[in-house]
Amino acid sequence: MSKLYVLGVGPGDSELVTVKAINLIKSADVIVVPRTNKDRASVAEEIALPYIEDDAKVKRYVFPMVNDLAVKQKAWQAAAEDMVRMLNEGKTLVYLTLGDPTIFCTYMYLDDMINQAGFKAEIVPAVSSFTAFSAVTGNRIVEDKERFCVVSGIEDFDNLPQIIDLFDTIIIMKAGIKFSAIYDILKAKNLLENSLMVSNATMENQQIFDDLSELRDEKFGYFTTMLIKKGGLK
Ligand SMILES: C[S@@+](CC[C@H](N)C(=O)[O-])C[C@H]1O[C@@H](n2cnc3c(N)ncnc32)[C@H](O)[C@@H]1O
Repeated sequence: MSKLYVLGVGPGDSELVTVKAINLIKSADVIVVPRTNKDRASVAEEIALPYIEDDAKVKRYVFPMVNDLAVKQKAWQAAAEDMVRMLNEGKTLVYLTLGDPTIFCTYMYLDDMINQAGFKAEIVPAVSSFTAFSAVTGNRIVEDKERFCVVSGIEDFDNLPQIIDLFDTIIIMKAGIKFSAIYDILKAKNLLENSLMVSNATMENQQIFDDLSELRDEKFGYFTTMLIKKGGLK
């Protein structure tokens, strides 16, 4: 019987993929992998590689990271149509995504189209990058009565000063893209010492930046997340 699972594969370390995800990857008819560029491997696929059988069928869709919404929608629609076609053939699909599928996941752009075709995805939870990156720096996200939030350093950028005022711990995803502007906000609020960043957490090329003071004009990769702990970092 056809079935669609949207699987998180965790933040990077293949040992952090759940047993449930491994079993579903091994038993799927088709493994569906979104990627941003046809010449670049998907990070989610690389994480899942130890669990993908040699003869597995892998479908790779390109979802370009561009500002033109029409271009993105066209790619989402083509992927959704292809997945619906396979579901109508009775296949079991697993859609791989980095981290946890409920946090900034591209599948959510396809979900309505899949539902309209009469199918419903089962979401399989996973380790999100924001818990993993806090763990690798030895920091707890919240304790006791503290409050935390997770925001995007691009989409929520204009509201960052107010967001920072409201919470004890602030996690900024996609923090590398507008880093210098975020840096200026933190400096103005005297919070640079309370902030750190991690690129590629739990991956072989993990980097922890625990002193941001000299890094204002540094370039960071896409897989970079920031932790701001107003009560103090470990
Ligand atoms: C499209 S979101 C995907 C989030 C993912 N679903 C999750 O649960 O972590 C991409 C952002 O996640 C964060 N990210 C993902 N993997 C990461 C890693 N290994 N180390 C640090 N940040 C990571 C970065 O902030 C990146 O810009």
